[in-house]
Amino acid sequence: MIAIGSDHGGYALKQAIMKHLEKKGLEYKDYGTYTEDSCDYPIYGEAVARAVSAGECERGIVICGTGIGISMAANKVKGVRAALCGDCYSAEFTRLHNDANILALGARVVGEGLALKIVDTFLETGFEGGRHARRVALISEIEERG
Ligand code: RB5
Repeated sequence: MIAIGSDHGGYALKQAIMKHLEKKGLEYKDYGTYTEDSCDYPIYGEAVARAVSAGECERGIVICGTGIGISMAANKVKGVRAALCGDCYSAEFTRLHNDANILALGARVVGEGLALKIVDTFLETGFEGGRHARRVALISEIEERG
């Protein structure tokens, strides 16, 4: 199950991504926002992040205008590694090396075609483990220290 959420800035791209996931037969849960009315991105970043952190969803996708604010919010939740990606290389390597569990996108930065490729890359790439597992564990230790 994929958790997906956006603010008003990411609403249209979120609709396109949900359609794309449907076509691929992938299940998702939409955590809002549900209209194009102006709203506050931390609410939706947190909702997706909590679903992933609790294990209700394996991966998450968060979208706002730049992707920055909503990724900052998501990264405040324990166990979340949200990665803002504007290209497929970053999407591939944040899965391979960082075991990122949430993809953040900037709807005012990337076009729909590229965004869908980034989503596919993120969802289809596994974690490499090995030395990268040690580094990801070190990130968690920072979180523990607060
Ligand atoms: C909303 O105007 C905009 O600030 C938001 O979508 C996002 O870009 C914040 O980081």
